[in-house]
Amino acid sequence: MIIGLRELLKRAKEEKYGIPAFAVEDENCMRSAIKIAEQMKSPLIVLAGFKEYSNEKELDDLDYRTHSFLHYGELSSVPVALVRDHTYHYEDAIIGVKAGFQCIMADRSKLPFEENIRQVAEIVKVCHAANVDVEAELGHVGLGLDLEKDSNVFTRPEEAAEYVRRTGCDALAVSIGNAHGLYKGTPKLDFDLLKEISAATDVPLVLHGATGIPEADVTRACQSGICKINVGTDTYMACRDGVLNADLSGAKVYGVFDAMYGGYMEVLRHWMTVTGSAGKAV
Ligand code: 13P
Repeated sequence: MIIGLRELLKRAKEEKYGIPAFAVEDENCMRSAIKIAEQMKSPLIVLAGFKEYSNEKELDDLDYRTHSFLHYGELSSVPVALVRDHTYHYEDAIIGVKAGFQCIMADRSKLPFEENIRQVAEIVKVCHAANVDVEAELGHVGLGLDLEKDSNVFTRPEEAAEYVRRTGCDALAVSIGNAHGLYKGTPKLDFDLLKEISAATDVPLVLHGATGIPEADVTRACQSGICKINVGTDTYMACRDGVLNADLSGAKVYGVFDAMYGGYMEVLRHWMTVTGSAGKAV
């Protein structure tokens, strides 16, 4: 069944577990993700549309994919929410609402505090009128390979409460040492900071850039206020490695898609276990 993100995260927050949100690229990914979520009895969050949608072909593609994702989501026995990840413009958010997403992520994290609030509050107003939730970001989650020990990009707890109150956002992505893509070395999450942010706000917190974060830290973060945890790079690497490691010689080449989605499914199973979402769809 399709469900709103806020509703899904409410229980995760109360019971202190995380729900992984996965990059889903096509219909086969979606069907594989639902298959694993059903096996693991886990709720499922689908991240669709990483790219900026600026031309007609890509818009058609988004529309097509969303329709098929919603269709499979409706048929599934576990709760499924679709998130339009990282929108940077008002128009992108509206396109996401029209396409049928349950949540729009409005990323204005590179803007100054006041402008971030102004733009996100505008998106929240229109999205809530359409019964769509909004995830916003305070502090900035950059790229792992660029991540310097710069705590300037970290979320400030004293700003978080004001930000949530003034924007009305339903979930808040935080910057606590996490970053997108591959990391240089091992990332180190600031758990004291997470505790302070969690105490300062009521909304469920989101951790982007899960790939590469040590398993024990993921579990600890999910028990400390992180309710949604975004996984991208790990799923793409799993597809790549599934194919590279398979014996696809001769007629075995017919198994190429099984190899790709098989790798994808194993990664999903792993994340549903370490976040604690397995078993929570009952
Ligand atoms: P990774 O690709 O680092 O796992 O991050 C994905 C993400 O946060 C998408 O919003």
